[in-house]
Amino acid sequence: MSKLVSPHGGGGLKALLAPRSERAEQLRRAQGLTKVPMTSREVSDVLMMAMGAYTPLDGFMGKGNWRRVCLDMKLKSGVFWPIPITLSANKDLADSIHVEEEVALVDAESNEILAIMEVTEKYSPNKKTECEHVYRTTDPAHPGVQKVLQQGEINLAGRVTCLSEGDYPQQYPDLYIRPAQARAMFLENGWSSVAAFQTRNPMQRAHEHLVKIAIEVTDGVFIHQVLGKLKPGDIPAEVRTEAIQAMIDNYFVEGTVIQAGYPIEMRYAGPREALLHALIRQNYGCSHLIVGRDHAGVGNYYGPFDAHHIFDTLWQGALQTRPLKIDITFFCNKCFGMATGKTCPHDDSDRIHISGTQQRAMLADGAPVPPEFGRPEVIEILRKYYAEKENT
Ligand code: ADX
Repeated sequence: MSKLVSPHGGGGLKALLAPRSERAEQLRRAQGLTKVPMTSREVSDVLMMAMGAYTPLDGFMGKGNWRRVCLDMKLKSGVFWPIPITLSANKDLADSIHVEEEVALVDAESNEILAIMEVTEKYSPNKKTECEHVYRTTDPAHPGVQKVLQQGEINLAGRVTCLSEGDYPQQYPDLYIRPAQARAMFLENGWSSVAAFQTRNPMQRAHEHLVKIAIEVTDGVFIHQVLGKLKPGDIPAEVRTEAIQAMIDNYFVEGTVIQAGYPIEMRYAGPREALLHALIRQNYGCSHLIVGRDHAGVGNYYGPFDAHHIFDTLWQGALQTRPLKIDITFFCNKCFGMATGKTCPHDDSDRIHISGTQQRAMLADGAPVPPEFGRPEVIEILRKYYAEKENT
């Protein structure tokens, strides 16, 4: 029996990527099928299914699951699931496809066929209901809501067989770690309690502090970053991975962390997304997910600790992976060190807070970034990126 938390849903990992020996033949078959173009978010969901990160799903959700997930955070089977995983099509295309037909799912940007789906259902989801429940807002300025509003009117559901993982394995040979591989690495390291640190940013000292708190109370930390699409202004993955490596090489004890990435696209759904992040990490074998301030949030749509509170609303047995809830983290001049809202008794004026926007401006202008905020080895990499960006 593995010492790690078991995959979500009570069974084994469900990786939907077809065996290598069958892919060429399936691809040939897929060429002759009706092609359904996928948005980048849908592509990222197919890749998550391929690797087993969305266990126990076996494809895109039908209306019954869509509805239960939106309203009750459950699949029809009663298994916990916090965010609908759906595929959309415009009405004309949906009308041309009949139930039980097999279709080819195509990345609309690269034109690559990524999967075959046997369509079991076509339905029109109420987007307002989805946004109100999942995003807690219907504001079209919210980047996740915007994508729901822009997607096709009809959802196609069905069992998916994945035929490719796109460019990710070649692009990130060391970082593209699938759940089964992560589990093997943890066991090899002798880790049974593992905290995941979800991030889409290079690590500054606040992030470093969160991860180090987790190292104190677990066997090791899986620094697990988003390799899928981000919103404009976020730092691209190749710069971030280099910056995170600089942090690990210079400030962490060897063997206490593993850097990795996964192909999800951020929805910026705050609390609901924190739950999805925990579910995915359960599939990866992580017993904990670090949840700090405004986890997976954007703008001012969510309170700083909404993502903490939502875990308290779950029923017994919904998830095995537990949140490691950590308060706002900062450098305090009076404590003369890193601290959190829970451990530092001083005024806000004693604490160094630098917003992402302020940091970007400092880096772009060549202004010094205080060492209390960022490690110099990390700052140097970011500064180079902004300087090159300015010159292009
Ligand atoms: S995201 O997925 O939550 O969007 P991000 O890189 O912004 O990724 O944050 C990574 C993790 O660090 C999240 O759990 C977030 O809550 C936490 N975090 C970031 N900055 C702070 C901070 N200053 N104090 C506490 N938690 C933080």
